[in-house]
Amino acid sequence: MATAPLLVVEDLAARYALAGTPVLGGLFHRQRWLRAVDGVSFQIARGESLGLVGESGCGKSTLATLIARLGDPLSGRILFDGAELATRTAASAAHAPWRHRIQMVFQDPFDSLDPRRTVFETIALPLRHLLGLGADALHQCVLEAARRVQLSPELLQRRPHELSGGQAARVNIARALAPGPDLLILDEPTAALDVSVQAGVLALLDRLRRELGLAMLFVSHDLGVVRLLCERVLVMREGRIVDEGPARQLFDQPRHPYTAALAAAVPRFSA
Ligand SMILES: Nc1ncnc2c1ncn2[C@@H]1O[C@H](COP(=O)(O)OP(=O)(O)OP(=O)(O)O)[C@@H](O)[C@H]1O
Ligand SMILES: [Mg+2]
Repeated sequence: MATAPLLVVEDLAARYALAGTPVLGGLFHRQRWLRAVDGVSFQIARGESLGLVGESGCGKSTLATLIARLGDPLSGRILFDGAELATRTAASAAHAPWRHRIQMVFQDPFDSLDPRRTVFETIALPLRHLLGLGADALHQCVLEAARRVQLSPELLQRRPHELSGGQAARVNIARALAPGPDLLILDEPTAALDVSVQAGVLALLDRLRRELGLAMLFVSHDLGVVRLLCERVLVMREGRIVDEGPARQLFDQPRHPYTAALAAAVPRFSA
């Protein structure tokens, strides 16, 4: 019998309020909306790496934050390990029992770190909030997370301005990994890094996924990276999934014209 998928997303939609249009000579404003995510359905298996690609503004980050339940959908379903997540508001989801099982890594490694907190405090915070760990267990857990991402223990007392870009990216990954997630959502996690540093962080993510059996939703502009790191890929355009398939097949023999256009825009693949 096939095991149930870890994540099932069904007909998910989200919108943003835009500036209103004046009507009746400016007496009233008619509200306008942008459908950033429009009828999206897909699944992620346990331990699977799924890529999400598409041009800037197509809705990738909006979709990623909906699944991490940091934003509220307009309609649709999100089933995580059989539990319905979309019925709660993002605010109430902060305390849900599954909260530590879905973790997100954001695009800019420095932007998502509090400049006043040391690396230790940064990694410890979600452990304290989500798992309620006491001092000894917390200490062990932070050390273990730092070891996993190859951050040396002396960096734990530093603050973000004392870190390199690659070190800051590893702190973000350690913070997301420490609570022991089953699903890691990564929104362009290496886009802000130099190419050489990027390669190290991507290799680390690939190794962690295999070692820990993590499922990953990997959002990226970089089709070459997605092709290397992901087993399967979703192609998004104007809020919808327009193509889906195994990574290599999708980009090497694209059948959908939009995927072909995206693949053609990449100068070369790295492997
Ligand atoms: N807070 C917001 N208010 C209004 N519109 C928004 C907001 N955030 C995003 N949008 C719009 O929603 C659409 C989808 O944005 P989103 O950030 O999800 O795209 P993206 O695919 O992640 O783009 P990028 O590759 O540039 O990160 C875009 O048209 C964007 O301008
Ligand atoms: Mg984005």
